[in-house]
Amino acid sequence: NKHSSFSQPSPRSVDEITGSRRLRRMRKAPWSRRLVQETQLTVNDLIWPIFLTEGTNVREPIAAMPGLFRVSPDLAAKEAERAAKLGIPALATFPNVAFDLKDEAGSQIRERENLINRGTRAIKAAVPEIGIITDVALDPFTTHGHDGILRDGIILNDETVAQIAHGAVLQAEAGADIIAPSDMMDGRIGAIRDALDANGFSDVPIMSYATKFASAYYGPYREAIGTAGLLKGDKKTYYIDPANSDEAVRETEQDLAEGADMIMVKPGLPYLDIIRRLKDEFAMPTFAYQVSGEYSMIRAAAANGWIDGERVMMETLLAFKRAGCDGILTYFAPEAAELLAKGGL
Ligand code: PBG
Repeated sequence: NKHSSFSQPSPRSVDEITGSRRLRRMRKAPWSRRLVQETQLTVNDLIWPIFLTEGTNVREPIAAMPGLFRVSPDLAAKEAERAAKLGIPALATFPNVAFDLKDEAGSQIRERENLINRGTRAIKAAVPEIGIITDVALDPFTTHGHDGILRDGIILNDETVAQIAHGAVLQAEAGADIIAPSDMMDGRIGAIRDALDANGFSDVPIMSYATKFASAYYGPYREAIGTAGLLKGDKKTYYIDPANSDEAVRETEQDLAEGADMIMVKPGLPYLDIIRRLKDEFAMPTFAYQVSGEYSMIRAAAANGWIDGERVMMETLLAFKRAGCDGILTYFAPEAAELLAKGGL
């Protein structure tokens, strides 16, 4: 008898086991599920990252990020109109800079009319009411794809900070509403704050990519901005080790002391524990960046019919809110906004 090893437990009813507590009571009807729902996702939580490229009327598909396009500044303005109609509060812009404009030091960041600033001007002229968050880092502008100035195999911290602080001021001058440094150099927040204040932009907030991890999830982004083949080595000397959580607290504490107004965790979903910890510890406006690799993984699995892409998208966005986020940078923003406008799933 193959069941002979099973010993019958002494009979106890489920009510005896649970003490009459039945957690399923509140789950039985849609109305009561709605009533006890702890977390809500709304369009106000969404920030849409878009990719800029040179030219006019240019719209190029990004192979590694199905459904996404690089757009020229004039079409970025159209994207902004679409976002504003959907009620998306803000865009984040990332430039794909032509190779002949790049150099070892990323000097293009100090050009007033560089691609990211032209993008900001075009968007602001067409849709003044939408927020624009500009990424401050050298990687779109360097021939080696690093976020800092590279000399003899070393990323120079202080020289990089001076370079990006100058770039941040030009971004604010072009109309950026929030400056978002993503380079992870030491002292960058304070230096950017000083530079903004000294140039009449004391009312422009800084969203610090406070904890940016040395992650493999950024792969598709590097194709999107055209740095995929350029990067020499890795970014482990300036991004945080994915193994570290206390260090994320120290880094955030430092950025806040230097004047960051908002903090961000990047990547998103694999780092929900960090989001929760930082929200509990600092109670600051806290954001997550659901990065390119996260986007592409969901798209790829959905395209194969292995997951329901829309439901997974909404579940991930809700998970960020539950973990403590005030908002999410996500390439899904317009799609999620459309779904939310229809009343959700
Ligand atoms: C670099 C930067 C990165 C991303 C945005 N700015 C990371 C990198 O290339 O190392 C990643 C965004 C994404 O993956 O969606 N300053």
